Amino acid sequence: MKKQLIEHSLPSLKDAAKRSKEQTKIVVEDLKPSSRLLEYAKNKRYFVRTYGCQANVVDSEMIEGILQELGFIPCDDPIKSDLVILNTCAIRENAEDKVFGEVGSLKRLKDQNKEALIGLCGCMVQQTHIVEKVKQSYPQVDLIFGTHNIYRLPILLDEAIFSERRIIEIYSKEGEVIEGVPLVREDKIKAFVNIMYGCDKFCTYCIVPYTRGKQRSRRVSDILVECQELVRQGYQEITLLGQNVNAYGKDLDENLSFASLLEAVAKTGIPRLRFTTSHPWDFTREMFDVIAKYDNVMPCIHLPLQSGSDDVLRRMGRRYTSAEYKALVDELKKMIPDIALTTDIIVGFPNETDDDFEKTLEMVHYCHYDSAFTFIYSPRIGTPGAKMKDETPFEVKKARFERLVKAVEEEASKRALRYVGNVYDVLVEGSSKKKDDILSGYTETLKLVNFKGSQDLIGKIVKVKILESHTFSLIGEVAENG
Ligand code: SAH
Ligand code: SF4
Ligand code: F3S
Repeated sequence: MKKQLIEHSLPSLKDAAKRSKEQTKIVVEDLKPSSRLLEYAKNKRYFVRTYGCQANVVDSEMIEGILQELGFIPCDDPIKSDLVILNTCAIRENAEDKVFGEVGSLKRLKDQNKEALIGLCGCMVQQTHIVEKVKQSYPQVDLIFGTHNIYRLPILLDEAIFSERRIIEIYSKEGEVIEGVPLVREDKIKAFVNIMYGCDKFCTYCIVPYTRGKQRSRRVSDILVECQELVRQGYQEITLLGQNVNAYGKDLDENLSFASLLEAVAKTGIPRLRFTTSHPWDFTREMFDVIAKYDNVMPCIHLPLQSGSDDVLRRMGRRYTSAEYKALVDELKKMIPDIALTTDIIVGFPNETDDDFEKTLEMVHYCHYDSAFTFIYSPRIGTPGAKMKDETPFEVKKARFERLVKAVEEEASKRALRYVGNVYDVLVEGSSKKKDDILSGYTETLKLVNFKGSQDLIGKIVKVKILESHTFSLIGEVAENG
């Protein structure tokens, strides 16, 4: 029998597109779970699968933090779990297809264990048409919640379990900053720290401003307390996270810049500090100075290009020209000669011409990227891009994509050669699954290095001499006196 639905609130892309000038509200979460939920959770197993970007990784850490505080125990097999939560991504159609595939296969879980619960959350369910589709065609999903109300999980779970109905609660309002949600970090070496949520850029291809809402910055004091605690716990690396980190603080009345926040976090003494993503449009002089001044701010910048054509960039709403982007790259390389640059590029934006695409290739060769994430454009319902006419056949896009991948690999291989024969600091993260004396870690420039060494080096920064280079990884040996 189909369970009845309780719809607390449904997503609305129209509401999600609204932005007000209001100051960010900071709310400290203090929801108390019911005693019947605490009783229920005893010895129950949960499984969380994360799709998408680091924002979702941190959200999943919060979901796990809440579940563990309730008494649930982690389980690494969804089919053996009592509660499965899929934290979804909406960035491209193939990301969504994967989720529907997994929801389909979770029917097996319900066949085995009638009491088991399946929850969907994350960016995908912030979209009206997705929630409609799940309501119609996926009765096995018991709970749907979004990116703005993760902190309400104890309330929503209680209702889903004890009312025996399907619960939907998605907020599309502008959103606040919620502090005080417990968080479980699986990684004990590297940590991601949110400095802001949402995005106000509205690039015309992108769904994120709708699924994540208005840009909201966390208070410096809250960020610093979290980072100081990570240093105290022995973390070796912090990555400050936001869709647009260099727009940090624009929504706070304290008028703080990202550069001053970066400097304050660098001063905590964390051995390695990174940030992502920085939008080329918001890059400031002050940021250059902080990156150059602090040795623990890593010389590696992710600077999404998206396209090398000014016409495409304008239609994407990116707010910079290829000449401005080049000038930024020139300046970064002048200031830090060994800097590693990485990027994101979209191929096949509506009506991208051969000439536009050639300009993207030109840019790849000009910037000598160390690596790049490359994507074929995927229209997202509700974005301006999805309404643009597109006459370019998919095969043409595919052929361009393949050429782009080759160009990126060519540049990455050339860049990798410069490491050979030199010694680098490598933060060791783990060992190979097949051979436990083969360690892997990353240079300051975020290049993957594999080398022979003992397990007790895991979590340490070790000097490694590079012997061989491949496109996306290096092979080395522990340097003498390393
Ligand atoms: N906030 C980051 C990126 C977030 S999404 C930034 O502004 O750079 C990560 C990447 O996905 C984007 O940089 C873009 O290259 C890609 N992307 C976003 N929407 C897409 C779409 N509709 N189709 C294909 N790629 C997309
Ligand atoms: Fe999307 Fe653009 Fe915002 Fe990045 S800056 S999340 S690409 S809208
Ligand atoms: Fe995906 Fe949402 Fe991140 S759409 S890329 S999980 S912000």
